Amino acid sequence: MTDIVESPEVSTLLDELTRMPGREDPYPRYRRLREISPIVRAGDGALVVTRHAECTAVVKNPKLGHVPAHMLDFVRPGWADHPSLRQLFTSLITINPPDHTRLRRLVSTSFTPRRVEALRPRIERMVDDLLSAMSGKVDFVTAFAFPLPVNVIGELLGVPEADRPQFQQLVRDWTMVMEIVTDEVLAKADPAAATIRDYLAGLAAERRARPTDDLMSALVAAEEDGDKLSEDELLTMAGLLFMAGFETTTNLLANSVVALLDHPGQLAKLRTDGAAIAVPAVEELLRYDSPVQLIPRIAWDDIEVAGVPIQGGERIISYLGAGNRDPERFENPDRLDLTRPDNAPVSFGGGIHYCLGAPLARLEAQIALPALAQRFPAMQLAGAPARRDSLTLRGLTSLPVAVD
Ligand code: HEM
Repeated sequence: MTDIVESPEVSTLLDELTRMPGREDPYPRYRRLREISPIVRAGDGALVVTRHAECTAVVKNPKLGHVPAHMLDFVRPGWADHPSLRQLFTSLITINPPDHTRLRRLVSTSFTPRRVEALRPRIERMVDDLLSAMSGKVDFVTAFAFPLPVNVIGELLGVPEADRPQFQQLVRDWTMVMEIVTDEVLAKADPAAATIRDYLAGLAAERRARPTDDLMSALVAAEEDGDKLSEDELLTMAGLLFMAGFETTTNLLANSVVALLDHPGQLAKLRTDGAAIAVPAVEELLRYDSPVQLIPRIAWDDIEVAGVPIQGGERIISYLGAGNRDPERFENPDRLDLTRPDNAPVSFGGGIHYCLGAPLARLEAQIALPALAQRFPAMQLAGAPARRDSLTLRGLTSLPVAVD
């Protein structure tokens, strides 16, 4: 039978992942954790899984959920008063059934695959415009990886173009609460979350008065069996879509470019076979360097993980980025192979919280990355990439490239 391993080595490895330079390249530490045991215990008591089978089982297990918002104060006194935490912990991504079931059903009537697919020509145009504006040495994050997703989600929700750039820093400050929450983090995250919410409240009021065909108008009108989103739920949902809609996709695009520049043969393949391999290529890039590296859960009930009995109330973290490099599931997991057969990255999670925006994120990357490879055959690194000092959301703050 498997044992939960709790050792100084495990504590050191996990501790190193919480700060630089461990965050820069977490993969050697993940490898060691996978070798030690399918399930380990961190110094703070949380359980951690790093193999593909357990990572997938944990995100799919309906008996594993989230800490409800009303328990925030119990987790840490005063937390429930923080707008940044309250908005996140009452949003779809962190609530449990039956509230989750109801809200997911309501948003799904508006945020449909058809609405996403309808954006294709608009995304193609945006990609073309952004690539046309790039020449010489540029920061790929500022020139492309950020503006594309923010414009796509802005377009979808109905945020006017001129208003979009201000949200990069605001969302970055807000999403830092997904890392280690400190007073310093909260001092920036609270005003950022409040500013975004106020902005979206203004937009919702406009759409209520004069509906258009955008997602905000659809959310305002969303109704299922006589049920509607309250004003509070509407703003929390729109805030989550806005936040989740671009930070992660920005990170996917930038992480992908780093991976491709590191594998010139694969980049050449994307350039020549772009359209034909766009779908498997994006799955592989999601696997190779996942924009979301871990998902926390709490056990509601006694369960079993990796054959080990886990008691209700235990915290457990699924390290998606580690599961994606498990040699038991992926042959040569540290090699980027854009046509890898039978790929199954766990980067969008699984179960009831499976990423609602996965079709949109995939579509953006499937259009953007082949177009980028084709437009700039001589693209190369033009300086050291700077990594965002966070692990849950893995990405870059700048990526200097020379495109011609
Ligand atoms: C590459 C880009 C993306 C990645 C890697 C990603 C990853 C994830 C993951 C791992 C989860 C599950 C979290 C959990 O189980 O605790 C999730 C949930 C979610 N994502 Fe994404 N996401 C991406 C893009 C997007 C986009 C573009 C949107 C919206 C426009 C979006 C909206 C959401 C929402 C609303 C949820 C919560 C779903 C629920 O709890 O029912 N995501 N995402």
